[in-house]
Amino acid sequence: MKIIYANDYQTMSRKAANILSAQVILNPKSVLGLATGSTPLGIYQQLIEWYKKGDIDFSQVKTVNLDEYCGLSRENEQSYYYYMYHNFFKYINIQLKNVHIPNGLEKDVEKECKRYNNIIKSLGGIDLQLLGLGHNGHIGFNEPNEAFEKETHCVKLAEETIKANSRFFSSLEEVPTHAYTMGIKSIMQAKKILLIASGEEKSEILYQALFGPISPQVPASILQLHNDLIVVADEPALSVIA
Ligand code: F6R
Repeated sequence: MKIIYANDYQTMSRKAANILSAQVILNPKSVLGLATGSTPLGIYQQLIEWYKKGDIDFSQVKTVNLDEYCGLSRENEQSYYYYMYHNFFKYINIQLKNVHIPNGLEKDVEKECKRYNNIIKSLGGIDLQLLGLGHNGHIGFNEPNEAFEKETHCVKLAEETIKANSRFFSSLEEVPTHAYTMGIKSIMQAKKILLIASGEEKSEILYQALFGPISPQVPASILQLHNDLIVVADEPALSVIA
């Protein structure tokens, strides 16, 4: 595990963007595993800036996102498809046919999970997976549980996740209760993992994830077993570790 310290959110974003950018420059056909949420926004902005300067070419890049809310269409402003398109994809030269996100409108759970697993397999796995860290230690929407779920599944979101994510919705009731998420096995099979964390509110859980016991109660703790894990975090997030 490599922990990269950053003074603040902006520096964290730039350092993490550098790692993603290097991946794409070294292998223009990279398969990137992407995340949504507040933490990666600065990374996407930075990558867009470098793209506009002509420093990165996304024309052959393929992406698979970690998760999507059940019941939300691509056009819904709270969907992760909408987030990815409006915060990143529409500003770069990625081909939309190369972009993959679970289909939140598919009601046949088995069918959708199988479809998404097959996509990941057909791409030959993920070269670099970007991960944010949930307040309860979730990665993707793999919530604390009795066991690690291996592949794509539909998950009932934890109460604290619904509360944390309600900041993006006009009321708590509007937050979907279920989501499709990539499983722990697919995440762990990524060749490289880039975990990002920002803010003091993540410091305790970041410590538990990186140095606590490996347990499905803290899903991110499994990352300790990955042989190419890079953590980029800002000073407040690292305050318990440093
Ligand atoms: C998002 C995702 C989630 C977030 C996590 C942290 O696609 O998979 O695991 O990464 O909830 O979210 P933020 O960055 O908003 O604190």
